[in-house]
Amino acid sequence: MKRIALLSLALLMVAGMVFASGAAESRAGLDIGIAMPETHVERWQRDGAALLAGAQAAGYRAEVTYGDADQGRQNQQIQDFITKGARLLIVGNINEGVNSVVREAAEDGIIVIAYDRLITGSDAYDYYITFDNFKVGEFQGRAIAEALDLANVSSSSPKNITLFAGSPTDNNANFFFDGAMSILRPYVQSGALNVVGPAPLRSSDAAFTRIATENWRADVAKARMENLLSNDARDVVLDAVLAPNDTLARAIIEALAADAKYDTTDTLPVVTGQDGEIASVQAIRDGRQYMTVFKDTRDLAAGAVALADALLSGSAPSIAGARLDTETYDTGLKVVRSYLLEPVNVTAENYRQVFIDSGYYTEAELR
Ligand code: GAL
Repeated sequence: MKRIALLSLALLMVAGMVFASGAAESRAGLDIGIAMPETHVERWQRDGAALLAGAQAAGYRAEVTYGDADQGRQNQQIQDFITKGARLLIVGNINEGVNSVVREAAEDGIIVIAYDRLITGSDAYDYYITFDNFKVGEFQGRAIAEALDLANVSSSSPKNITLFAGSPTDNNANFFFDGAMSILRPYVQSGALNVVGPAPLRSSDAAFTRIATENWRADVAKARMENLLSNDARDVVLDAVLAPNDTLARAIIEALAADAKYDTTDTLPVVTGQDGEIASVQAIRDGRQYMTVFKDTRDLAAGAVALADALLSGSAPSIAGARLDTETYDTGLKVVRSYLLEPVNVTAENYRQVFIDSGYYTEAELR
C-alpha cells in the first residue's frame, strides 16, 4: 500500500513540475523584448533586425517592435512585452515618457537596458550601451575645421556656418552638439567662424532649442534650411552646415541645392552627418555630403545581446570592443553603467574601406 502511495505522490510531483514549468513557459512566452524608436531613420531597422537575430541565436525567445517616434505607442509595445512575461527589455526610447513603463518593468523585476539613447529622468535601470557620442560630434566639428582650414582663417574674412542639432528629446543630440562645438567654439570666439542664424555654443545654451530638430524629422530640417536661405543666410555664402545625422544632412542638402548659390557639388557647403546611411555614403562619394560617422549597428546589437545574456545568466558582463564608463552618463537621478563602442569617421577617402571591406554594404548596394 505504502509503495502505491509513494508512487502516486511521485507522479503528482512530476506532474506538478511539468504543469508549473508549462505554466511558467506559457506565462513567460518571451525572454527579451526589443523596443526600437522608429523606422524613418534607416539605422533603427538594422539595429532591430540585428538585435532580434542575435537574441534568438543566443537561445532567447525575442520580439522587436518600432515605435514610429510615438512614445505612447512604444509604451504600449513595452507593456505588451511585460504582459508576455519578458525577463529583459532592450529599449531605444523616444523621450522621457518611457519612464512610466521602465518603472513598471523594474517593479516586476524585469531588467532594462537603455540602447543607444540614455533613458533620462529614471533610476529604474542600471545599464546603457551606445557609441562614444561626444566623439561622434568631435568628428563632425573636426571635419568642418579641416575642410575650411579654420586654423588659417583670419577674423577679417571669416567662414560662415549654420548649425543644426538632433531631437531636443534625445540626450544624444546634446553629446553630438557639444562634441562638435568643443572643436568649433574656439574659432567662433576668435572670429574665424561666423555663425549664421541661432548661435548656441553649448547644448545647455537657450538657443540650442532653436537649432534642435523635433524627432529627427527630415521635413523639419529641410523647412528650417529653406527659411534660413530666405532670411538669415540670404545675403551670405555658407561655407559649412553642422548637420547631426545623415537623414537631416540629405534634407538640408536638398534645400541648399534648390538655391542658385549652391546648385552644384562644387558650390555646396561642407555638410556633416552620421549613421553611414546608404544614400549618404553615395552622396559622399558624389561630393554632395562631406562626411558621415559609422556606428556599426552589428557591433552595438551584439554588445547589447552579450550584456543581456550576462545579466540574465547572472555573470559579469564583458562586451567586446566597448569601454565601460561608470561616471559620465547621469540620468538626472543616477549614473548608469555605460558601455561605449568606438565610432569611425568616414569621408570620400575611406568610405570603401569602412563599408565594403567590412561587409556592411556590398558594391551593388552602394551603386
Ligand atoms: C540618435 C542616434 C543617431 C541618430 C538619431 C536618429 O539617438 O544615436 O544615430 O541617427 O538618433 O534616429
